[in-house]
Amino acid sequence: MIKKIFLVTIILIGAAAFVWKGTAFAATAEENYKFYCAQCHGLDGKGEGANAKPKAFGIDLPEMSVTPRNHTSSEDMSKLSDTDVQNAISDGGASVSKSSIMPPFGKTLTEAEIKDLTAYLRKLCKCKGK
Ligand code: HEC
Repeated sequence: MIKKIFLVTIILIGAAAFVWKGTAFAATAEENYKFYCAQCHGLDGKGEGANAKPKAFGIDLPEMSVTPRNHTSSEDMSKLSDTDVQNAISDGGASVSKSSIMPPFGKTLTEAEIKDLTAYLRKLCKCKGK
């Protein structure tokens, strides 16, 4: 009897760990965007995140010297190829001769996550890459 309970417990812990791992690692592009990008690019992608237009006690603080890309602008976003977008996300703004305020995410996100994010940005701008 004790042995059986022990076995069941082990199986349950295994199953719980599997489920937990599954959810923790399978963040959608939208979740990644909200977590990693929205503070600058805004929840809606318009480039007006909390860091871009900072406020404290209702007073406007100085803005960033370069404003984050508006990911909903099809005019701006269609100038970038999908590869440009992926390089900017992976290696940061400086790598594509843009502002280094845009941080590199190549060590934080997997290649697949960066591809998914690129597709998500294409949904936001309703545009294709050049
Ligand atoms: C600390 C603020 C900040 C964060 C966080 C941030 N960005 Fe940016 N991003 C910027 C700024 C500022 C620019 C504009 C750079 C420029 O135009 O010189 C930019 C530009 C971009 C561009 C356009 C690059 C180009 O070649 O025009 C893309 C694409 C982009 N960001 C995607 C993302 C994604 C996806 C994330 C989240 C994984 C993210 N950014 C997180 C600040 C940020």
